[in-house]
Amino acid sequence: MDTNGNGRLYNIAVIGATGAVGKVFLDIIEKRPFPLKSLKLLASARSAGSRIRVRGDDLTVEETTPQAIRGADFVFISATDEISQEYAPIAAREGAVAIDDSGVWRMDPDVPLIVPEVNAADLDAGRRIVAIPNCSTTPLVMALAALHPVSPVRRVVVSTYQSVSGTGAAAMRELTDQSRQALDGATNIPGEVYPHQIAFNLLPHIGSFKEEGYTSEEWKMVRETRKIMHLPDLQMAATTVRVPVYVSHSESVNVELAEPVAPEQARALLAAFPGMAVIDDPAVAGYPHPVQTAGADPVYAGRIRRDLSHPNGLAMWLVSDNLRKGAALNAIQIAEAMIERKQV
Ligand code: A2P
Repeated sequence: MDTNGNGRLYNIAVIGATGAVGKVFLDIIEKRPFPLKSLKLLASARSAGSRIRVRGDDLTVEETTPQAIRGADFVFISATDEISQEYAPIAAREGAVAIDDSGVWRMDPDVPLIVPEVNAADLDAGRRIVAIPNCSTTPLVMALAALHPVSPVRRVVVSTYQSVSGTGAAAMRELTDQSRQALDGATNIPGEVYPHQIAFNLLPHIGSFKEEGYTSEEWKMVRETRKIMHLPDLQMAATTVRVPVYVSHSESVNVELAEPVAPEQARALLAAFPGMAVIDDPAVAGYPHPVQTAGADPVYAGRIRRDLSHPNGLAMWLVSDNLRKGAALNAIQIAEAMIERKQV
């Protein structure tokens, strides 16, 4: 058992413990000195009774019920939107803090949307439901927050290259199955998770199509960035694309700042920002890429250069493990920040 400064230990329930994010959550909690008292693993009735080994103990997965989360200090939710909708308020009523990975609560004005390195102070409102941003928003706001104090961010154009693990375990299986079939010569392979073949393909379609021809994922990036950065009028447009990569989301970002910032200065600011790392050495093909960053904690920046289309513009490339900083790690860091800020 680990203790933090105040010596208190915390009960955690994980709803969605058998999912893509849940598994990474358990892997992180095993290695991190989190002040853990007990861990309860919850999923659907389908998984009830299965066993997962965590921190040396064989834990039995239970069905998610209101009784099962009773006594928890933190309830991490990464399951379905319906489960988030139902269980976050139950957890809060029971006196726990619900840390939710779905899109259901993020834009609720009473729910803080948190990346601890950027806006931990928003936790001080003392809310019992806290949301984790979309996995493509988190790396972006970290990069913007590194630049913003030096030269305020005026406008952002971002295009993403998002891995299938962002959709969940079933999407990862679909990529594997379709890849095998494609290598055996199949074409136009129908999918169950995606509307078109994802193996050896890419789809400019994440979520559903909404106003102005943008998808829900693109609107999430815009609205969540504005909320986290406290910049409600930030000019921003996003294009989000699903690519046949298992883990790690990549983003091409063009930022217009209030004043010019030289690439060297931007590199230094990004490298110094907590939770970020820079790999930017074109001479040796040095830039972050998904295979390299999967399983790592930082948000990586590279290809940092002037945006030649605007005197105050910067262009860069971001890559981060969407299951870690994009979800599970950020969730655990929120709990740690709440403990540190004496919110629990
Ligand atoms: P289960 O494995 O029992 O289906 P992913 O995003 O990788 O698809 O994972 C989704 C997670 O959400 C899994 O842990 C899954 O559990 C869980 N889940 C899905 N439906 C429910 C439900 N109705 N109640 C609780 N957990 C659910």
